[in-house]
Amino acid sequence: MARLVIVSNRVPIPKSRGAAAGGLAIALRDLLTPGSMWFGWSGRLTAEPAAQPSLVEARGVTYATVDLTAEAHRSFYVGFANGALWPLLHFRLGLMRFHREDYEGYLAVNQTFAASLEPVLQPDDTVWVHDYHLIPFGRMLRARGFQGPIGFFLHVPFVPPSMLEAMPVARELVVDLCAYDLVGFQTEEHARDFRDCAQRMLGATVDGEWVRLNGRRMRAFADPIGIDAESFAQEAGRAASDKLVRRVAESMVGRALIIGVDRMDYSKGLPQRFEAFGRLLEKHPEHRRKIHYLQICPRSREEVDEYRKLRIDLDRLAGRINGKFSEFDWTPLRYSARAAPRSTLAGLYRIGRIGVVTPLRDGMNLVAKEFVASQPDEDPGVLVLSKFAGAAHELTEALIVNPFDPDAIADAVHLGLIMPVAERRERHAALKAKVLRTTAQVYCRRFLDALAQRPLVRAAA
Ligand code: F6P
Repeated sequence: MARLVIVSNRVPIPKSRGAAAGGLAIALRDLLTPGSMWFGWSGRLTAEPAAQPSLVEARGVTYATVDLTAEAHRSFYVGFANGALWPLLHFRLGLMRFHREDYEGYLAVNQTFAASLEPVLQPDDTVWVHDYHLIPFGRMLRARGFQGPIGFFLHVPFVPPSMLEAMPVARELVVDLCAYDLVGFQTEEHARDFRDCAQRMLGATVDGEWVRLNGRRMRAFADPIGIDAESFAQEAGRAASDKLVRRVAESMVGRALIIGVDRMDYSKGLPQRFEAFGRLLEKHPEHRRKIHYLQICPRSREEVDEYRKLRIDLDRLAGRINGKFSEFDWTPLRYSARAAPRSTLAGLYRIGRIGVVTPLRDGMNLVAKEFVASQPDEDPGVLVLSKFAGAAHELTEALIVNPFDPDAIADAVHLGLIMPVAERRERHAALKAKVLRTTAQVYCRRFLDALAQRPLVRAAA
């Protein structure tokens, strides 16, 4: 069997104190079988990074990582990936900061990664590249002579041609995506937008999921990511004994918990959500003293200006809401920038009466799926979900809202709070069945099976 080589910016080396493992790392970690390899950034900045990756073996998996210089990291990660690509792909053109030297730095880091990985690859390896940090990586690896299958999965949304064209190097990005054998997107809408870009911007021929460019065919399809729902549900059940979960549950004194968990990112719609909570208390005073809204939003990417500004905005908004509605023995909004372990989060979701997941734009949003998996079947809570999260394409029994409309969010939370248990059970059963069906394992298998069909792709080209 071909060896699987995963490539991503962050590498979840077990027990590493370097890079923090994100959602992607957790989704894939469980699926790495002995013999496979995970390659990417070590999480370290050094003055003179070695050309060869440093190798660590854990549970039969080789973790191969390279260091970056501070300057390379700044232009690659802070500058182009998170200062230009992230806002663009989240439909925030006004926040896109494009600098040609950042793009050069992005290309250079991708070259460095390709140059370090290529010598440790075996000819029959299958390479699976992840996310917007590494769009040119496949083309660069191919140019170094690697002949095996190379697939790419984009965890974030993709935009229509009219929006992508605002990016000065849009053509280059689409050419680079076309260089993969297979590109996976979270939803069919994103896959279609990409194929439209290839057609309109490069003159590619599109036939269903297939894109033909310069005599070569590649496939762009939707493969929605999932969670390990069974184990997450079990973790949520066990977490009732978690100290922090118990403390939060006790502090509720019978009040209903509204819970939100997001990285502190402007794509998550947090100011609108805070405002919605204020509107709820305003419009429905009957809920005052009977609910608590807990928002956990660990700080993220604070090297980027927009993220620092967001923190200031949220501090101000939280202060305003609590200043307006608090009573001596009731604080309506608790907001914490601290990260919590996965097991604690699972326990908090379980005791949540309403899960609020209202990003302005999101590739998938696994918190929505985790909230569903964690809820008790007999007395489940209600998920309030943004129509612009990839998850809304699947989780249609949630209360779907427009995240730009604080009143709509407030109305949905109110509806969730008064919803009879029979309706909650019915919605939850339908949602849970979906979350259990489209798991992380299904996602990986679908992608790798599609990538394995590549020789047929070549023959047909
Ligand atoms: O949502 C995209 C993503 O890359 C996730 O895979 C990851 O959990 C998150 O962003 C973390 O971002 P960063 O690596 O910038 O901390």
